[in-house]
Amino acid sequence: MLMQYKGKVCCLIGDPVEHTLSPLIHNIAFQKLGLDYVYVAFRVEKSMLKMAVAGIRALNIRGVNVTVPHKVEVVKYLDKVDELAEKIGAVNTIVNENGKLIGYNTDGLGAIKALKDSGFHLKGKKILILGAGGAARAVAYYVAKEGPSEMVILNRGVEKALELSYKIGCEMNVACRAEKLDEYNLKKTLEEMDLLINCTSVGMFPNAEETPVPKAFLKKRMTVMDIVYNPMYTRLLKDASDVGCNIICGLDMLVNQAALSFEIWTGLKAPVDEMRRTALEALRRDLSWEKMLSL
Ligand code: ATR
Repeated sequence: MLMQYKGKVCCLIGDPVEHTLSPLIHNIAFQKLGLDYVYVAFRVEKSMLKMAVAGIRALNIRGVNVTVPHKVEVVKYLDKVDELAEKIGAVNTIVNENGKLIGYNTDGLGAIKALKDSGFHLKGKKILILGAGGAARAVAYYVAKEGPSEMVILNRGVEKALELSYKIGCEMNVACRAEKLDEYNLKKTLEEMDLLINCTSVGMFPNAEETPVPKAFLKKRMTVMDIVYNPMYTRLLKDASDVGCNIICGLDMLVNQAALSFEIWTGLKAPVDEMRRTALEALRRDLSWEKMLSL
């Protein structure tokens, strides 16, 4: 008797993709649930993006993750984009529904889930976001959706912060202001914040000794989240932990965004614990940063 092949393919498109954890996390999840799916990473140059999206249709690829530098550009090649992803202007997940490509942004949602899982509820809280790049935009919109009482965005390049805070104010109807990321503004703002989210790349391997916030400015009562996940315990998170803050690692956001993509593609609940364990192991295997920080 002939077997009917029902396998499905998911993939990542980005440039570079050599260091991505996504194939590992997703393939483990497919395996765990016994799904006949496979996940591969494709390096796609900027000039090839349009053709790569045509390839998704031609090859009937079920699901796609999109990473740097294509998250913004890819939007114009899709058939439909989720409302908030459209406002953010960036997509990191595509699902192919019978030839129709629909875009989502699970980055921001992944961050919110990590916060909720840790017991932090955003409604009525004062939130400080550091950074105004792609990741900060996704996080800021999803934070705004939860109804905080006030949002502040600090960025090295103040123009970008002002633009983002203006959009959050108008489109999400949340009190939001922006200033330059410097010590004076940090110190003043942190006096009254409930949550700090670092959405800059400061502290990322190999610059793990750097932190965007001097330790002395952190207050015990606040929750501190870092979207940097390598190292897992960034200097900011270690300082915050020393001070007595509740901390949330970037790895949680990474795994959550992957789990949400998985659920969009398969319609099944993702094996989040298995995915997290695999990601953690992979990071640990690259011992260089761990040794450096003597974790
Ligand atoms: P991503 O998609 O990961 O958000 P990005 O769009 O390049 O990447 O954004 C990187 C963010 O980190 C920006 O907010 C950037 O600040 P600028 O807009 O001023 O460039 C911030 N960033 C990167 N290096 C920084 C540094 N050394 N000090 C402060 N902010 C930094």
